[in-house]
Amino acid sequence: MKLKIVKYGDPVLQQDAPEVTNIDGQLVDFVSEMFDTMYEAKGCGLAAPQVALSQQLFVMDVSSAHETKDRIVCINPQIVETKGSIVGEEGCLSFPGIYFEVERPEIVTVSAVDINGKEFTMEARGLAARCILHETDHLHGRVYLEYLSPLKRDLIKRKIKKKIKLGEWE
Ligand code: NI
Repeated sequence: MKLKIVKYGDPVLQQDAPEVTNIDGQLVDFVSEMFDTMYEAKGCGLAAPQVALSQQLFVMDVSSAHETKDRIVCINPQIVETKGSIVGEEGCLSFPGIYFEVERPEIVTVSAVDINGKEFTMEARGLAARCILHETDHLHGRVYLEYLSPLKRDLIKRKIKKKIKLGEWE
């Protein structure tokens, strides 16, 4: 089943999400629906608040094959270390059609709990690192617009307001 992705402007995207305290069958099913939704939207990461669930959880798959082994679920993720910095283009499923360059750490170490309740730590670089940082931001109510200069941010906000008026932001 496909879930509805909420767009920028929805308050759920600006909340600090509470931690997941219980992994039950319902959550396992929801995570599977999050993957379906992400693949259909052609994204490589999706945070729970983006599908209106305010919980510390995101899914990602930066592969092109989309095999089960490529699926990563991060529950209650903590960024434990970052190294370097690199500029790369980013988009967000809650900001359809809006892409711009964002400077982020190049290498990131994240600790999280997987869907089986098992703790893990992984080091990532490249697109995976960028995705982990972008999605973890969502869990703290932060969106990638915040990395823009105030001038560029206002420009994009105006663009979005125009789209809302035209009914192109649903
Ligand atoms: Ni996003």
